[in-house]
Amino acid sequence: MSFNRDRNAVIQQYAKLAREYDSRWSSYIRATTDATIERIPPLPGAVLDVGCGTGTLILRLLDEFPRSDVIGVDASLEMLELARSRLPTRVKLQQCWAESLPFNDDSFDTVVSCNMFHYIRQPSIALDEMLRVLRPNGTLVITDWCDDFITCKLCDIYLRWFDPSHFRMYGLSQCRALLEAARASQIQLEKYKVTWLWGLMTATARKQSSITF
Ligand SMILES: C[S@@+](CC[C@H](N)C(=O)[O-])C[C@H]1O[C@@H](n2cnc3c(N)ncnc32)[C@H](O)[C@@H]1O
Repeated sequence: MSFNRDRNAVIQQYAKLAREYDSRWSSYIRATTDATIERIPPLPGAVLDVGCGTGTLILRLLDEFPRSDVIGVDASLEMLELARSRLPTRVKLQQCWAESLPFNDDSFDTVVSCNMFHYIRQPSIALDEMLRVLRPNGTLVITDWCDDFITCKLCDIYLRWFDPSHFRMYGLSQCRALLEAARASQIQLEKYKVTWLWGLMTATARKQSSITF
């Protein structure tokens, strides 16, 4: 019941915000997209962007890696409509939740997600899904707010009270624990600031090439 209510809060939030999303946060989106692109491996192959929003990261991916096939998914139809209007038709876009990705196992070389993880109600399930659709040894790249920064911690507290679409932020050690529990390998975490207010972290990890016991 509350899970559905939380999902509706995300849907309603982005139905309302979609039209002004890019202009309202343009410099923030540019900074976070740049930071994410810098941490993507040089030959990303087939890429899935989870929570692609209006498609800014996908546009940058196509620019940097023109040979890559890129697919974007997002929960919000309104955000996807805007992405559709600015992306070439060869980019496939699909509405779905990160917790149940409609792709076969081992479908992508790289799975990325930017500014989305703090909405996820079931982070372990979402990580399992992202790793499931990655090919063995493929790369996962997740950028999101980092609550090791005091400014972010305060925002997290505020948003938990006043924004029903928000779920929670993580610090580096919590993020590492989630990735370890999902059996990701070669986990690397980096935290950094993009403005005086917003502190980010980018996690990169690999899908194990075979399960070891
Ligand atoms: C802050 S926007 C980020 C969009 C884009 N990645 C960017 O950096 O500009 C968050 C996006 O995540 C999507 N989202 C939130 N929870 C989601 C979930 N559980 N599954 C898929 N998409 C989700 C929202 O619909 C929204 O488009």
